[in-house]
Amino acid sequence: MKLTLTHQAPELLETEALVAIVFDTGDDTATGEPADPGFDRLDSLAGGLLAELRRSGELTGKALDTVLLHRPAGLAARRLLLVGGGKREKWDLAQLRNAAGTALRFLKGKGVHEFVFLPPDGLPAETLVTATAWGLIAADFEPDSYKTDKNNDHRIDRAQIAVGSAESALESALERAVVVTEAQNLARALSNEPANRMTPRELVQRAQQVAYGCGLDFEALDSERMRGLGMGALLGVAQGSAEPPALIVMHYRPAGIPSSNAHLGLVGKAVTFDTGGISIKPADGMEKMKYDMAGGAAMIAVMQALAHLKPSIAVTAVVPTVENMPGSRAQRPGDIQTTMSGKTVEVLNTDAEGRLILADAITYARRQGCTHLVDAATLTGAIVVALGHTNVGVFTNQQAFQDRLLASARDCGEKMWPMPLDDEYKEQLQSNIADLPNIGSRWGGAITAAMFLKEFADPTPWVHLDIAGTAWLEEAKPYMPKGPSGVAVRTLVDLAMKM
Ligand code: BES
Ligand code: ZN
Ligand code: ZN
Repeated sequence: MKLTLTHQAPELLETEALVAIVFDTGDDTATGEPADPGFDRLDSLAGGLLAELRRSGELTGKALDTVLLHRPAGLAARRLLLVGGGKREKWDLAQLRNAAGTALRFLKGKGVHEFVFLPPDGLPAETLVTATAWGLIAADFEPDSYKTDKNNDHRIDRAQIAVGSAESALESALERAVVVTEAQNLARALSNEPANRMTPRELVQRAQQVAYGCGLDFEALDSERMRGLGMGALLGVAQGSAEPPALIVMHYRPAGIPSSNAHLGLVGKAVTFDTGGISIKPADGMEKMKYDMAGGAAMIAVMQALAHLKPSIAVTAVVPTVENMPGSRAQRPGDIQTTMSGKTVEVLNTDAEGRLILADAITYARRQGCTHLVDAATLTGAIVVALGHTNVGVFTNQQAFQDRLLASARDCGEKMWPMPLDDEYKEQLQSNIADLPNIGSRWGGAITAAMFLKEFADPTPWVHLDIAGTAWLEEAKPYMPKGPSGVAVRTLVDLAMKM
């Protein structure tokens, strides 16, 4: 899909479909106040057609409701699609993004190939362009890569966003939004691949393609190198699989920045399939564990975006990638592994493998000189119990750094929620034989997992994102197909740009 801006007046736009937002004004229309000036303007162009629809009750403006009209009077467009914006006072960038995405998916389903989106005023022009572009490009993603009977006629070739004036700031806002959302879609495409195709080796190849395509330094450490570095926890998880593990390392280095400056480390869990290992998972739903590499996919995607956007901070992505399998060579419950940090771990449950590979990856990132760390991982089922599929669970050892990340999340319309990490939780991590067990008690499982990671991150300022509940959309939305979400990509790009 080609996405551009247009400055033409809405009534003159010759397009297959013009999309406009209509707010839910409820009873306020009775007061005679102009509750929705954009509506009134369009309505008078169309000779009162919209007001009539509103009176008939067919046009409510309720969030994401759609009404399609053909050959609207007074407009050059062939169709007019009205998308509900909900209550005006709740209107924000996330609502706009979702409305734009809803329009795209609705029109795609109707066989329309081209349209113009007319964002309502009420938000700053740059925000309008950014949020609309996010919504359109993310909505255009289809997770059906292996369907052989795809309906090729259901395809959007071109979309335009109608903005009042031709400002270069708006053009560059659009360019940035395209880069970020294409990165989000890359993370989704990687997470969507089945585990027989997306092996650790394949992920290395894909990350390398990204790095060479946009001029990032790239390295992939193999088992030998990792053994040399003492990464016993990562290798312990990998040893049950015939697929060799790797540690993917990507560097972005801005020109002319002193090496004493901040250096952001992005660590992403990439278990290409998590059977649980010897502590094997139940069969029901196990197929979903192909997305246990969504954290790593997100970090590779963030690096792609940063290579284009060029922040003035050094960024290193460290992505440990393994397959967690049972087998005669697999690690057993009770095995002891020595991590790169020197700490020993008693592996009480081989299904708590994410924290093991992250422990070594975090240590590696710190030794690379990272001054700030963010990790993203589909780490625990417990975070899904705590926060459902709506919010990412956020943990930290430094409030100020977490606050910056949460501000970025808010600006990007990604829902994230802070979780506690009090010292008391550490009491659950006692082993009789080693420094740490890899699991705590039954309670607060997302927190004890984060507590385990903190042991390796301290004292470097660190934020942990548990994306187990949010990396996969369980139900299709009008603006997103069900499947991988690419969560955290937008927030982390924004954070790096602001650092
Ligand atoms: N990959 C899983 C976590 C997960 C669960 C991701 C649901 C996505 C959806 C992780 O490796 C895991 O198995 N965690 C265990 C930890 C337990 C053994 C302490 C869990 O959450 O059950
Ligand atoms: Zn697991
Ligand atoms: Zn896992």
